[in-house]
Amino acid sequence: MKERIELLEKELENFSIKTKEELENFRLRFLTKKGEINALFEDFKKVPKEEKKVFGQLINEIKQKAQQLYESFQGEEEVNSEKKDFSLPGQNIEIGSRHPLSIVQNEMISILEKMGFDLSIGPEIEDDWHNFSALNFPENHPARDMQDTFFIEEGISLRTHTSSVQVRVMEQENPPIRTISPGRVYRNEAISARSNSFFHQVEGLYIDEGVSFADLKQTLFLFVQQFFGEGTDVRFRPSYFPFTEPSAEMDIYLGTETEEDYRLTKGTGWLEILGCGMVDVNVLENCGIDSKKYSGFAFGMGVERIAMFKYGIKDIRTLFENDKRFLEQFSSLGNGM
Ligand code: PHE
Repeated sequence: MKERIELLEKELENFSIKTKEELENFRLRFLTKKGEINALFEDFKKVPKEEKKVFGQLINEIKQKAQQLYESFQGEEEVNSEKKDFSLPGQNIEIGSRHPLSIVQNEMISILEKMGFDLSIGPEIEDDWHNFSALNFPENHPARDMQDTFFIEEGISLRTHTSSVQVRVMEQENPPIRTISPGRVYRNEAISARSNSFFHQVEGLYIDEGVSFADLKQTLFLFVQQFFGEGTDVRFRPSYFPFTEPSAEMDIYLGTETEEDYRLTKGTGWLEILGCGMVDVNVLENCGIDSKKYSGFAFGMGVERIAMFKYGIKDIRTLFENDKRFLEQFSSLGNGM
């Protein structure tokens, strides 16, 4: 019996298993009821009493060994079956596309940067001073209602425009200042096809000695020629903002030839694209800039509005739904910025 056990042990050790079939053969041969190890237990019955202890141990050991081998082969077999066929075609890597708002915003920034404006970024959660007071919104003045505000707590809100960033720049830097502040802004407005509770702005600020309204007009005129194309007509209409005096809104001329242009311009041919004006003396003083020495202009445009016009998007909400079918249409556009 001793020899049988030793022989079996050798066989176990030399058994190589590469395929599923061989693994199954191993199981049938050693581990089933009718297998060779169980057969040992039959012989065990005939072993004299005094040798039972020794043989019992040996048989149990070999049984455990077979079980362990089986399990380790099983693991190996799993690894083998996972082996990849590298000749198969790979999975497609889907390349994302730039969001239309990023495309438009990057283009605006790139044009203005070439004109000499630098970039300023500021916080989206803003205090009352930077969003309102410094910008000449008197406390409890109805002008604050122009921009319905999401308040976080008394005196802290989500910024309603990126003019707040320009206050921060004016407080920290001395003129000449030539900067643009792109970013997300929030307004507590009913969501519809035309307005959303958040959107994006690119606002510009230029402060130096002797800056005049003529500089403002020329800068914006040049911007429009580059962004909307040479020969695009513009007009300025008087307007009101607490932080600029005088203030204006600028329209570009689309005409009314197509139904779409007629709809967008409400039959006038003119599309409003931005607000602007000469920085109010109070704002300069609030930010520690000598208004006798320096003057400046500011402008602010909505990125969504211009993107919607540029790509013929009729509902602002499609810009925020992240529907891949919509976004993929822009995959061939946009530069690498
Ligand atoms: N901050 C204004 C707005 O959000 C836009 C603007 C900026 C107007 C600068 C004039 C000058 O509506």
